[in-house]
Amino acid sequence: MMNDTMTADDSKAPDLMRRLNSRTATIGIVGMGYVGQPLALRYSEVGFRVLGFDIDTDKIAELNAGRSSIAHIDDSAIARAVENGFEATQDMMRAREADALIICVPTPLNKYREPDLSFVTGTLESLLPHLRAGQVISLESTTYPGTTEEEIVTRVTQSGLKVGSDVFIVYSPEREDPGNSDFSTHTIPKVVGGHSQTCLEVGKALYGSVIDKVVPVSSTRAAEMTKLLENIHRAVNIGLVNEMKIVADRMGIDLFEVIDAAATKPFGFTPYYPGPGLGGHCIPIDPFYLTWKAREYGLHTRFIELSGEVNRAMPEYVVGKLSSALNDRGKPLKGSRILILGIAYKKNVDDMRESPSVEIMELIRAAGAELEYSDPHVPVFPRMREHKFDLASVSLSPEMLAGYDAVVLTTDHAKFDYKMIRAHAALIVDSRGVYREAADNVVKA
Ligand SMILES: NC(=O)c1ccc[n+]([C@@H]2O[C@H](COP(=O)([O-])OP(=O)(O)OC[C@H]3O[C@@H](n4cnc5c(N)ncnc54)[C@H](O)[C@@H]3O)[C@@H](O)[C@H]2O)c1
Repeated sequence: MMNDTMTADDSKAPDLMRRLNSRTATIGIVGMGYVGQPLALRYSEVGFRVLGFDIDTDKIAELNAGRSSIAHIDDSAIARAVENGFEATQDMMRAREADALIICVPTPLNKYREPDLSFVTGTLESLLPHLRAGQVISLESTTYPGTTEEEIVTRVTQSGLKVGSDVFIVYSPEREDPGNSDFSTHTIPKVVGGHSQTCLEVGKALYGSVIDKVVPVSSTRAAEMTKLLENIHRAVNIGLVNEMKIVADRMGIDLFEVIDAAATKPFGFTPYYPGPGLGGHCIPIDPFYLTWKAREYGLHTRFIELSGEVNRAMPEYVVGKLSSALNDRGKPLKGSRILILGIAYKKNVDDMRESPSVEIMELIRAAGAELEYSDPHVPVFPRMREHKFDLASVSLSPEMLAGYDAVVLTTDHAKFDYKMIRAHAALIVDSRGVYREAADNVVKA
């Protein structure tokens, strides 16, 4: 961590920390998506004035009307925040009003599977003219080690502000798990790294006022790497169980039974479950941020590449299982009527980003089958950049189910009536381990 050279007198830190600790500061959240909205609600709930910045004018209008754009966030929570002074805006000039600017914009991969930081740098460029002394800037978007220093500290310093005495820069990764009701924003410990010791102290005040446990680390790079380690750990372990699933299946063993048995070991084992492939904004993408950065150091991230390879092959594995199960019944995939159960990327959410179900749908359509889907969380197949299906969710009944040649269970939403499905489907290809007992019409995939 860098040393601060300023004296206590010329630093804006004490006053800013006082405002944060007394909750009289104004908090600006840039990017009002899955990460930004819960954070804005949390700051508002404890009494801060909150401004939400976004470039999506529809989203801004919805939020200002007291409506959430995210299924698992209640409209009433947004409405309450609006009553307490929360405003959403696209006017970046209003960044001056904020004492803290927390950046939660997307960090996807481009078509070459390289980091696309354009949302982060675009945000910075639009904020820069409106920054002032006495502000703290926190980046929460997931990214490779070095981003905060290279992209934020450099730009802010060039603008003439002194980082560590005029403005304070921290990185604090988000750990949101949409749809998981066991945790809320304030009960998930928050890692923070500062560009300098004073930056870190300000960062601790920023998050300590709303989060139960703040975990300081020695630098922004350590904080950036922490988030990547968490997600790489998941991607690699999911890759491992997906490979184990194929081996166990060939040996006639049910891997779900094995995992549950192994999980009774009270130490040294964490259960991960196989599935139809990785989905969501984080796990399929974030590891490759490190892969890209590691190349600069002449290093090759083999675990990340290998698990990526295994996990990316899962949709084909599931469709292969479907195809051979139909073949066993004397039917080709071409011309068969197939129902996809669940198209969101994971259970009980409406989030379609990187959903492996869509990959499976593409493969089934390409094979010439007739396709329908049922997902209580996604009533109409949404507009996606790389996929187009003119489909709406069908509701399930015994008669409907009996009309399909096969049902492919891709997302195990709690709302499905699994008993009814098993009773009436001719064939179920189960990629989620829902049906543990052997049955003539169930194939594990
Ligand atoms: N979704 C999660 O569960 C999750 C969990 C942990 C970390 N993250 C990370 O958090 C970051 C944000 O993810 P998200 O899921 O909230 O994304 P999101 O797509 O839901 O929301 C991002 C928002 O930023 C807005 N935006 C884009 N460019 C902007 C700009 N220049 N100025 C202002 N607003 C802009 C978009 O309109 C959108 O509303 C990503 O880096 C992601 O990897 C996400």
